Amino acid sequence: MEKPDNTINRHKPLRLWSNAFAIICIWTLFILVSWIWLTQVIRSGTVETARIEARTAFRNDVIYRRWNASHGGLYAPVTAETPPNPYLKTDHREIQTPEGILLTKINPAYMTRQVHELAEKTSGHKGHITSLNPIRPQNAPDPWERQALNRFEQGETEVSSIEILDNTKYLRLMSPLITEKGCLTCHADQGYKIGDVRGGISISIPMAPHEIIERANITTLSLIYIFLWITGVSGTLLGIFFLTRQIQKRHQAEEQLRQHEKLEGVMEMAGAVCHELSQPLQTILGNSEIMLLDLAPDHPLSKRLNKIQEQVERMSKTIQNLIKITRYETKQFPQGRVIDIDRATKEHNASTTDNAPK
Ligand code: HEC
Repeated sequence: MEKPDNTINRHKPLRLWSNAFAIICIWTLFILVSWIWLTQVIRSGTVETARIEARTAFRNDVIYRRWNASHGGLYAPVTAETPPNPYLKTDHREIQTPEGILLTKINPAYMTRQVHELAEKTSGHKGHITSLNPIRPQNAPDPWERQALNRFEQGETEVSSIEILDNTKYLRLMSPLITEKGCLTCHADQGYKIGDVRGGISISIPMAPHEIIERANITTLSLIYIFLWITGVSGTLLGIFFLTRQIQKRHQAEEQLRQHEKLEGVMEMAGAVCHELSQPLQTILGNSEIMLLDLAPDHPLSKRLNKIQEQVERMSKTIQNLIKITRYETKQFPQGRVIDIDRATKEHNASTTDNAPK
């Protein structure tokens, strides 16, 4: 009966701990997967932010270019930075104000180039106006721009990717410049019609500033996740710890109860035996008393009889003590105070040896 109980006692906490291990494994996996997933979301968010920035720059270019084209080009004073555009073949490219200031016509592409130079100095954005059929040879596309322009011919309206330029990470985005009515003033003789892809502008956004934000976000996320992981793991461990303690306490209580029940049986029997023994001892005592009275005090047997009486009295004292113990024991039950029979017996033995016959 006891053996299977003991195995339960020993195996239950073990099974709980292996369950805890499984829970922690699943929790770790969940934390890891969601962390990887969220960092991916943050990373693609970074690229998307850079893409939006590039798109905005492109749209601004298109708007001011459209404004310029709507005037058929604009005039600006000729300076070292703004010499006449040799590729602009038009009447009245240079004009002179009545005061004698020389002005030159700035076509949209020329303006775009100058704006891009300014932009690179101020925000680090690179811009490049290009075409598969460039009027100005320096406007020819690089390989990346060429494949984008080819895709625009197939009907795509935006191409973007992360690229390394001069050892720096950039988001490159390119969209087509579509021939509008205003463009035909200068580009009609190349054979372009309204709606044709005249070329495109590629914008390169440095990724470094975006990556600083990305790193900060990932760090925050990681800290939150580490905190979550630790909370989960310690929660599980604490939970299992208290559960095992609870179970152990219950088993201990059950074990104590069993011991008690056993002890109670033993005590009951001891009580009965003591009861049975006290009667004959009383008889021995009574009879030896009578014998002592009958014998002369100096009779050699009276000394022996005295010794017998002494020992019988000790026996009955012991029996009385034992009866007391058994009563005490049954009263204490079931609060859990277990009587140490061993100790009780030892004390008793000690007292017996003390009073041993000389
Ligand atoms: C005032 C004349 C003029 C107008 C208007 C004009 N362009 Fe141009 N465009 C030029 C000249 C000249 C060049 C080549 C030299 C340069 O880069 O300035 C050029 C260059 C370009 C380029 C760069 C590729 C190349 O051929 O070198 C593109 C793309 C372009 N134009 C598109 C347009 C579009 C689209 C419009 C209408 C919104 C337009 N242009 C209106 C004169 C004009």
